[in-house]
Amino acid sequence: MKLLEERIQTDGRVLGTEVLKVDNFLNHQVDPALMQAMGNEFARLFATEKIDKVLTVESSGIAPAVFAALALNVPMVFARKKQSLTLSGDHYVADVYSFTKQETNHILVDKRFIQPGERLLLIDDFLANGQAVAGMLQIASDAGATVVGAGIVIEKTFQKGRALLDEQGVRVESLARITAFENGQVVFADESPV
Ligand code: G4P
Ligand code: NA
Ligand code: NA
Repeated sequence: MKLLEERIQTDGRVLGTEVLKVDNFLNHQVDPALMQAMGNEFARLFATEKIDKVLTVESSGIAPAVFAALALNVPMVFARKKQSLTLSGDHYVADVYSFTKQETNHILVDKRFIQPGERLLLIDDFLANGQAVAGMLQIASDAGATVVGAGIVIEKTFQKGRALLDEQGVRVESLARITAFENGQVVFADESPV
């Protein structure tokens, strides 16, 4: 998505060889017009799928997910994060290990908000090691729901996540695909000009 790539070029900041800071428009301050354009693009990419609900993880997935849900005219559910938890049987729970932070979080969704047989579109801001999406897949599976695919704002192709999802046959659509950070610059994968 050209608009997003341009925004990454102007406002993104590369940290080392693995991290892109985008807190100016996505991860802290949020640009609603850009989020809406991205939501519309996710809806267009998955237009041939029947989708009942959009699922994401708090916090940074929420902004793009709510606009995807708006464009699809369906509800959006965000999994909540908890470091540790005392569990009742009211929630679907998955472990999400962060390689970056070297800690495991639990993500959970109240069982009332995903019904068996529902068709879910997963949304997240970054695809790095794929652990957040893997956690959402686990929750969908436990709920007896079907995942139509994952819509990702920024994919880093050089980390493990994309291969992990490809192996599981999950359709992935990313609005920006970054192949490397070189000398503080972002290198994008070639893509069709949208
Ligand atoms: P994974 O889910 O793909 O396995 O990601 P990983 O453990 O590597 O990342 C942990 C957190 O860091 C996630 O956010 C993820 O979205 C974010 N992240 C990964 N790569 C980048 C990057 O290049 N830039 C930025 N800004 N974030 C990145 P989180 O801790 O779950 O936080 P939240 O922002 O959603 O609350
Ligand atoms: Na995230
Ligand atoms: Na994040």
